[in-house]
Amino acid sequence: MKVLGIETSCDETAAAIYDGDAGLLGHQLHSQVAMHAEYGGVVPELASRDHVKKLLPLIEAVIAESGCEPEDIDGVAYTAGPGLVGALLVGAAVSRSLAFAWNRPAIGVHHLEGHLLAPMLEPEPPQFPFLALLVSGGHTLLAEVRALGDYQIIGASVDDAAGEAFDKTAKLLGLPYPGGPALAKLAEQGTPGRFKFPRPMLDRPGLDFSFSGLKTAVVVATRGLQLDEATRADVAADFQQAVVATLVAKCDRALVQTGLRTLVVAGGVGANLHLRSELTALGKRCGAQIRYPRTAFCTDNAAMIAYAGYRRLALGEHDDLRIRAAARWSLEELQAVGRRL
Ligand code: KG4
Ligand code: ZN
Repeated sequence: MKVLGIETSCDETAAAIYDGDAGLLGHQLHSQVAMHAEYGGVVPELASRDHVKKLLPLIEAVIAESGCEPEDIDGVAYTAGPGLVGALLVGAAVSRSLAFAWNRPAIGVHHLEGHLLAPMLEPEPPQFPFLALLVSGGHTLLAEVRALGDYQIIGASVDDAAGEAFDKTAKLLGLPYPGGPALAKLAEQGTPGRFKFPRPMLDRPGLDFSFSGLKTAVVVATRGLQLDEATRADVAADFQQAVVATLVAKCDRALVQTGLRTLVVAGGVGANLHLRSELTALGKRCGAQIRYPRTAFCTDNAAMIAYAGYRRLALGEHDDLRIRAAARWSLEELQAVGRRL
């Protein structure tokens, strides 16, 4: 079964084809980063308009890359939420229309389910059940992934997401959008230890996160300081270390609490090399397996949407003739696929 996956929830336009037998056949992506950089963040209306321009050529490109004809596609999966509603609507309308024209089933996929399942595109895919740390621009959560569609959130950020904290702190340091990768790069040149930033919520029990205080701590610590290149690099190094230490400590706690032995790391911040090396060290310490998607599939992409859609379509699930787009949609509203059938 070959599934065309479409992702347009934010500032990446992407298309991919996943085959149940042969695996991923192709994936194409256009990033809008350069267009939004001028405004210091994503401008929703510009994002939607650019998806309109880029999506059909990307679909043609991925069909050619995969050596397929449109008739070979057995189903279409698209991100139906959460995300920017105008951006989602572009992918949803195009996907639903293509499926209708090709007389094939379509399915709206939850964007975070795509992120959670992304490591399954790699060799040695994790087996259910596993623990997942999802760290993106909009979400920071720990979830018990028991089966396809059966996700229980056991910890979440009470304020800013980890990626959002990276982006806002990067802005304070005068770094260009998108801030996360730029801050991580700057941190490589810094020496940690000069600034004592808090490790939020580590002094209390539980698995929730809070990152907005950390951003404020950066403002307070740098007030009145000459922010030369070396100082900015030291701030970046200490900030990154505080976020990573917090994430790693909560993962450690969650592994103990759930007794699960596999931790999957997903979402854009999962591309952070310092986080990866500290989590790998945690895995060695406590005998847990740590699984990541390749870096390109940590951030938004259509391969994860094609894969999640394939898993559901292969079990006989599909949507009716609706175009689905939901700006807000809780991961816990999903149901285990076996039970829904
Ligand atoms: O998953 P994603 O591509 O989009 C959302 O669904 O949010 O995540 C994007 C987030 C942004 O906040 C970006 O700054 C952050 O991931 N990010 C990083 C790194 N690469 C991307 N944060 C820290 N270090 C990185 N290397
Ligand atoms: Zn995402």
